[in-house]
Amino acid sequence: MKVLIIGSGGREHALAWKLAAEPAVSEVVCAPGNPGIARVARLAAVGVTDLDALVALASAERADLTVVGPELPLDLGVVDRFRAHGLRVFGPSRAAAALECSKVFAKTFMSRHGIPTARYRVCADAASAHAEIARPELSFPVVVKADGLAAGKGVVIAPDRLTADAAIRSAMEDRQFGDAGARLVLEECLSGPEVSFFAICDGTCAVPLASAQDHKRAFDGDRGPNTGGMGAFAPSPLVDAALQSRIMEEIVNPVVSGMRAEGHEYRGFLYAGLMLTGDGPKVIEFNVRFGDPEAQVVVPMIAGDLAPQLAAAADGALPSTPLSFRAEKYVGVVIASEGYPGASPTGLPITGLEKAEALEDTLLFHAGTRLENGGVVTSGGRVLTVVGRAPTFDAARQRAYDGVRAIAFDGMQYRRDIGQKALNGLP
Ligand code: AMP
Ligand code: GLY
Repeated sequence: MKVLIIGSGGREHALAWKLAAEPAVSEVVCAPGNPGIARVARLAAVGVTDLDALVALASAERADLTVVGPELPLDLGVVDRFRAHGLRVFGPSRAAAALECSKVFAKTFMSRHGIPTARYRVCADAASAHAEIARPELSFPVVVKADGLAAGKGVVIAPDRLTADAAIRSAMEDRQFGDAGARLVLEECLSGPEVSFFAICDGTCAVPLASAQDHKRAFDGDRGPNTGGMGAFAPSPLVDAALQSRIMEEIVNPVVSGMRAEGHEYRGFLYAGLMLTGDGPKVIEFNVRFGDPEAQVVVPMIAGDLAPQLAAAADGALPSTPLSFRAEKYVGVVIASEGYPGASPTGLPITGLEKAEALEDTLLFHAGTRLENGGVVTSGGRVLTVVGRAPTFDAARQRAYDGVRAIAFDGMQYRRDIGQKALNGLP
């Protein structure tokens, strides 16, 4: 089977690395990919939003399966386009991608299907949002969320009315996020540890992948600005077999049956961002793709072959046999450029990649890298993910950080405490 992967991040590198090593896969092509992915796949210089060129590429390559990495092409309808051309593709349709791309859709969908989530109100104009915030019975903090994709910046946890009003103004009146802020969700602030849960869905049923925990803030101790993710570990020690069954029963399976009942079969990776509250797991958000950097720690856990599962799911015929997983623990540390998540310099030479890669039980996944004069240089905010695997989280952390310390470029930044939560049992 020839597989085309769409994307160029650490998540896509982990998927390419896994699929390229499987017996059912003859070749992996990646559009546009990166220099790390080029070690396991052939790259095609096609951007993730150029749907016509992606269809042409999959047809010319006679790809047996296309796997879509990021949400942007899903939101643009890449899956619908591929299907219209008779191409087999793993990912949700544009309508199904609304679970991530419209928070209003996600919240109202959860209400319709009894999926546990924070209580909320949808506001379609600034006046009603300000009025909602002014209601005397409202208790703070309140969470203000832009409806559409806002590059991870669309959520404000407002401790008081002043902050909430300011968030409403910047989204709805100043249109800070463009049309993504045309509607807002105001919701109850939940508390508890956050975990990510992943499943593979085929439109009718789902099989669980694994749980993971992300580190979204830029600096140690969960301080500093929100980022795309500075590191992750898997599996989450907070999700035992009983909780996993509960998440499947109360959240994942109702999503699949509810989407089907509404006429939008959900096929693809489903990523449920959950808060483990005193009342059980509640959905904070859905993503319609694998997580990044969670994929870098979850994909290597999969012991069996992934390609046949993804192909079967794309056909709507997922086998009900569960996937098998390695018993080891995985810790992934993201190495970012100076200034990330703000603007960061690019073109800086990276040293030590071979040394890190040669370490036993250390995996290296590229994201913001490119080739320049034969050497690998930085080309974005998140540059690399270094993953350590070992029988314990402690040893997995050491292996990841041994790899991180082998690598150097000007201004590189990373958190020193990735995976620490898994050691001391704290959320
Ligand atoms: P999102 O962009 O939806 O992932 O939200 C970003 C972050 O805001 C989440 O990872 C949570 O930490 C936090 N958050 C979102 N919604 C809530 C909520 N209802 N209660 C508490 N925290 C929340
Ligand atoms: N790690 C967070 C995300 O993939 O959205």
